[in-house]
Amino acid sequence: MANDADLEQRLRDLTLVKDTARSEIDNAADTETLEALRIKYLGKKGLLSTFLKGLGNLPQEKRRQIGLLANEARELVEVLLERRRDVLKRKELEERLSAERIDVSLPATPVLIGRKHPLMETLEEVERIFTSMGFEIAEGPEVEYDYYNFVALNIPKGHPARDMQASFYITDEILLRTHTSPVQIRAMRSKAPALPVRLIATGKVYRRDDDATHSPMFHQIEGLVIDKRVTMGDLKGVLLEFARQMYGRQATVRLRPSYFPFTEPSAEVDVSCTVCGGRGCRTCKGTGWLEILGSGMVHPKVLENGGYDPAKVTGFAFGMGLERIAMLRYGLDDIRVFFQNDIRFLHTVGRM
Ligand code: PHE
Repeated sequence: MANDADLEQRLRDLTLVKDTARSEIDNAADTETLEALRIKYLGKKGLLSTFLKGLGNLPQEKRRQIGLLANEARELVEVLLERRRDVLKRKELEERLSAERIDVSLPATPVLIGRKHPLMETLEEVERIFTSMGFEIAEGPEVEYDYYNFVALNIPKGHPARDMQASFYITDEILLRTHTSPVQIRAMRSKAPALPVRLIATGKVYRRDDDATHSPMFHQIEGLVIDKRVTMGDLKGVLLEFARQMYGRQATVRLRPSYFPFTEPSAEVDVSCTVCGGRGCRTCKGTGWLEILGSGMVHPKVLENGGYDPAKVTGFAFGMGLERIAMLRYGLDDIRVFFQNDIRFLHTVGRM
């Protein structure tokens, strides 16, 4: 009889285990909790295993009966666990998907793409224009002999024109070139007596000058043409074509008498104002013209120093500041912006 009471008790225990398992499993909030419940009920030391082990002292018949029920309970718990696991897995996947959702309609993170420095863009444009007219590109050193920078260009020691180009000297005879004109001499000497000479030389030059329109380092573009019967008309024609390609077909040029020791006659060249087209505005100070370069017919002494015979050939030369050309092109009034490396300027100038 005691056995019957014991059996009853065990059946109640089993029902209780089943019921709590069901409610705990149904309430499990995540798969981790669920795994803990699996161990709690089905693990080696779990409630159902212990329950089965505790049947040892029952008579065989009863043991079989309750064993069957316990196994049913075990299967039931397995099924409940599995169902709950499916539900939780789906829920967790949905949560992850919504947390990691990518809005493909969001604008992309902008990538800052580099660009050429505006001076180099302008230089390439100038080079394109002159090479399209048959000019070659020449180069010379930035650290130059006083001889090439001045003497060979008809500017001997003590010549007042040296004052116009306040120089950085390295020794008495070596300096940072103050202009690209020494390349005239170097190029002539490497070519003479071959004809024609038709080149531009571009690069850095240095002067002791520093304000809104002067930088101690700046760039020049030198032009040199030597051949039989080259005239000032050719000079003007080449510069007019340059101005038109650079500033538009409506651009015109004018020559004003000037003086350079290495050209004779010499002329300053103006281009019709790139802002007002010649009517007169602030940029051209009401004149309608903007000065862009110095030029002239190569001085006979310079031809000679370059190895050419001034009785047989003539030539013209011109020199312009790249920064000035670029400032007019982009409508800038301060040269220093080219060298301050402000990325906002470098990125947007000429692109707005
Ligand atoms: N070298 C001159 C300067 O720097 C410019 C120039 C070049 C003038 C060639 C005439 C001919 O001012």
